[in-house]
Amino acid sequence: MMSQTTAVIGGTGFAEFVGMINERWQYRRTPFGPSTLVRGSVSGVDMVFLPRHGRPARFPPHAINYRANIRALRDLGIERIVAINAVGSVNPDIPVPSLIIPDQLIDYTWGRAHTFFDGAIHHVDFTEPFDAALREQLCTITSEVTSPYRLNGVYGCTQGPRLETAAEIRRMAADGCDIVGMTAMPEAALARELEMAYASICVNINPAAGLEGAHQMDFEAMSAALETGMAAVRKILEQLLLNG
Ligand code: HPA
Repeated sequence: MMSQTTAVIGGTGFAEFVGMINERWQYRRTPFGPSTLVRGSVSGVDMVFLPRHGRPARFPPHAINYRANIRALRDLGIERIVAINAVGSVNPDIPVPSLIIPDQLIDYTWGRAHTFFDGAIHHVDFTEPFDAALREQLCTITSEVTSPYRLNGVYGCTQGPRLETAAEIRRMAADGCDIVGMTAMPEAALARELEMAYASICVNINPAAGLEGAHQMDFEAMSAALETGMAAVRKILEQLLLNG
């Protein structure tokens, strides 16, 4: 199979790609503002890593310049993007820690710069928000290299930066959400607008607000879950790059 130009967008717990070599950090200008990313290679394959929260990490989910990030990747000729997202579980059947490759999402964010088409009428199809071929590759590798995992799920994207109320999580469960995070949107839609394949590996680090075991957010337990989950994510990405 021809190898595609791949970028990984890392989030909380994945601010750098340990094992990447030949690192060249770049500050890229775009019509939407700057973006910081690193070019290098993993598993012997050239790729790009972009830390979503900046370097050093300082942009909370609602203040990330998603348009600059996606445009900077497009300008480098990136064809497919694997996003790493820390999430909480809305569905009590999803264990902590575990990996989820979501297949759907619901957008609860507001006020974010969420389109490249402010000055033109252009509606992209978003029936399947994640790229089918890339998801399939991630699902195959995930089931081979790690457990526990889930190969589908509805990602509910909240505005943050605060965590949710118990009632908001009950509403999200009623809406059909399995997991909750703050960063998949507008990232996924912007990638679609620029016709880049986009899929996500989510790491479940806590039961969402009001669920059993979540009476109070336990930040220490979250970091332990993050560490375990991200080690698995690294293995999946290395394999994806090897497979081409
Ligand atoms: N809510 C929203 N975003 C998150 C959570 C959560 O419980 N855990 C990790 N990211």
